[in-house]
Amino acid sequence: MLDGKRVLLIISGGIAAYKSLDLIRRLRERGVRVRCVLTKGGAQFVTPLSVAALSEEKVYTDLFSLTDESEMGHIRLSREADLVVVAPASADILAKMAAGIADDLATTALLATDKPVLVAPTMNVMMWAHPATQANIATLESRGVMRVGPGAGNLACGEVGSGRLAEVPEIVAAIEEFLLSGPGAVPSAAGPLSGRRALVTSGPTWEAIDPVRYIANRSSGKQGHAIAGALARLGAETVLVSGPTNLADPAGVSVVRIESAREMHEACFAALPVDVAVCAAAVADWRVARAADQKMKKDGSGPPQLELAENPDILASLSRAGEKRPRLVVGFAAETENVVEHARAKLARKGCDWIVANDVSPATGTFGGADNTVHLIGGNGTENWPKLSKEAVAERLAARIAEHFKGAA
Ligand code: C5P
Repeated sequence: MLDGKRVLLIISGGIAAYKSLDLIRRLRERGVRVRCVLTKGGAQFVTPLSVAALSEEKVYTDLFSLTDESEMGHIRLSREADLVVVAPASADILAKMAAGIADDLATTALLATDKPVLVAPTMNVMMWAHPATQANIATLESRGVMRVGPGAGNLACGEVGSGRLAEVPEIVAAIEEFLLSGPGAVPSAAGPLSGRRALVTSGPTWEAIDPVRYIANRSSGKQGHAIAGALARLGAETVLVSGPTNLADPAGVSVVRIESAREMHEACFAALPVDVAVCAAAVADWRVARAADQKMKKDGSGPPQLELAENPDILASLSRAGEKRPRLVVGFAAETENVVEHARAKLARKGCDWIVANDVSPATGTFGGADNTVHLIGGNGTENWPKLSKEAVAERLAARIAEHFKGAA
């Protein structure tokens, strides 16, 4: 299925570089053409000869090789691929990528490429946890760089913790997933969800106090937008009802912009019928019962008393919409303790089919962090997913939804 797809594999320095040989072999077995760039550090761990033998292509190592530049300039090298993969990605190359440094062939190709990039970081546990590395990762992810791993376990340096290169099959799966349906792939008219309609809610809601003030929350909308994009890439005709965010519209999705919970509720019902609804928005539970028509004034009589009224629960009302009910309704639950137990109770209370529950207790570092650890809770049990980026959570959830509808009328 991957026949003829092209990957530019950048092998940077790290003891795990030897695993890149196995990665090349497995990609070749799947029909992927793999062209490799070996950094100076990478060449300390694997030889150009073994990389060339396994990839069956010339290996590129030096930015200033005149023969290489005349045969294949670094710009062409960076563009003639469907995906650029950096595996292993050292702390150093991640820092250079984040800063836009281009001082060798690998980093120059990474700066010059117009193709999506996937990184598989590996380093010592303290290096991974260092705020500099975490900031670099956050910068790269905000620019759309995808990531697989690192995992936790025994590290080559003798320490234990997060920093292990993702296992090779995991990297292969991430590459495969991307090449078949990942971000940047065009929405597929023939995907497993073609002919299905999907509704996704995303972002915060704004509840007016008066014409200039409002109550809001800190939701970024990243998770909901990623889910809408992932469903569209699998072929679903997708409507995204979103509160105010700073995000670009996902490709191939119709976006309905709203501000308040009541507007979101109305827009969601206007989008029915749909096969699947995913409620990822952080809907305000309350609104101001009577928003003022004019800007409220400080008139010396003390602060105003704001009376609150309950907002409609969109997830619960979609779940109980009778004939109009989407066949699959998926909610989210952020919990700080007894995650699965509380999420199960929410599933029953809301009447939805699945809940994606995430642990947001401070120890997990989910808030403000790049990763999310979620559990998918459904009628038949609980799936515990590994630590993933929000994009990867979206891809997996969309794949599970496609599986759910497989073979259904
Ligand atoms: O009750 P709680 O806010 O924890 O539930 C979270 C789930 O319910 C999310 O899926 C969220 O999108 C949805 N929700 C909703 N409408 C509301 C409140 C929550 O759709 N008014």
